Amino acid sequence: MDVIKLDISNALDSKLTADAVNALLPEATEALSKVDNGTGAGNDFLGWVDLPSRLSDELIADINATAARLRNECEVVVAIGIGGSYLGAKAVIEALSDSFAAYRTDGLPKVLFAGQNIGEDYLFELMRYLDGKRFGIIVISKSGTTTEPAIAFRLLKEKLEREQGKEVASRRIVAITDEHRGALRQLATEEGYKTFVIDDNVGGRFSVLTPVGLLPIAVAGYDINKLIEGAAQMERVTCDGAFGSNPSLLYAATRNALYRSGKKIEILVNYSPKLHYFGEWWKQLYGESEGKDHKGIYPAAVDNTTDLHSMGQWIQDGERIIFETVISVDTTEHEVVIPTDEANLDGLNYIAGKRVDQVNKMAELGTRIAHVDGGVPNMRVVVPALNETYLGQLIYFFEKACGISGYMLGVNPFNQPGVEGYKSNMFALLEKPGYEEQTAAIKNRLK
Ligand code: PA5
Repeated sequence: MDVIKLDISNALDSKLTADAVNALLPEATEALSKVDNGTGAGNDFLGWVDLPSRLSDELIADINATAARLRNECEVVVAIGIGGSYLGAKAVIEALSDSFAAYRTDGLPKVLFAGQNIGEDYLFELMRYLDGKRFGIIVISKSGTTTEPAIAFRLLKEKLEREQGKEVASRRIVAITDEHRGALRQLATEEGYKTFVIDDNVGGRFSVLTPVGLLPIAVAGYDINKLIEGAAQMERVTCDGAFGSNPSLLYAATRNALYRSGKKIEILVNYSPKLHYFGEWWKQLYGESEGKDHKGIYPAAVDNTTDLHSMGQWIQDGERIIFETVISVDTTEHEVVIPTDEANLDGLNYIAGKRVDQVNKMAELGTRIAHVDGGVPNMRVVVPALNETYLGQLIYFFEKACGISGYMLGVNPFNQPGVEGYKSNMFALLEKPGYEEQTAAIKNRLK
């Protein structure tokens, strides 16, 4: 089986030479050793490192059996979660799904998402869509107390119990949470929900290969065994201490070299609309892991060629603080050939007979040349096809590189102290018990 490949040749120029990247090898291998041997900051959150090879057959069988039961009993399953408790599943499902799956009625349960926002209209319209449908819920929260998913779960649980009774509801609700602690664990025990555990040593943004990601992906009908197999292949490859054989090591070193040369923004670029949410997952992984202590590359993402008609101007011509990493997918699943048109009013006959993907590939190559010429270093992650195996490889490739890169940057890649800031202000503004002092202070400030 092929593995995904990293090409950094277009990231190198007179400002960043191959020698400068190679000079970072000792630092990169030291960071790799911290990840692999648990000797760096945040080492109690390294449970994801050997996860692909460690997942037990029993757990995978249990996830597949639970998914089959939900698919059998429900027309629609709503996965409730936010951040790391949602983005991985959403990314993989979108990457593998028919782009118009939402409009098809072929009998498979659709996986919808909730709890990733506090949009009142979103929740109203979701509940209206669920009216009269046999629906189930996968509620995912490591802490069990995150406001966004807790609100969505309260609403959907109440609806399910009211419409179907408590017994049916408790059969159609699956909770994924901490093994012992938290409100969701307590509720699941009291109500007798089927549960899966999020291990203490796996942080949210590294949890896609745990039941957090695997159950919704399996419910959507995708092969989690292949996803895990792909990740396990990459787990083996990325233990190596050489740039030539460890793409995660090379990616981490190159992006740190670019950062040190003044490139403060990295955009993850795709040329396949199915990878939009992969970009969202990647943004959380790198943003939460590296953006701390007033340091870190800002992770952004664009969908091309769509965004060449909006962000293209900035990327080509704005401040030269940006580099790009393109996920370049070699083959499409389907073929569409551009037809000849006798009148040729649109002037497109010069590409008649070519496949749409050939045009897309030339757009990608043309953009790469223009960006490199314009001072935007380019890395490419070449993926043979969009399937479970290569997505598993891609996920693990980026996770491993993230740990290495965070240590090279000099931060703890596995905490996220900054995400608490908005929460305490929101609780104070909502007058949550226990926040009285902050409520008074914030009201005073807003006078
Ligand atoms: O990566 C993280 O830790 C966060 O994004 C969490 O995943 C997110 O806040 C959801 O937390 P929880 O699963 O506790 O509801």
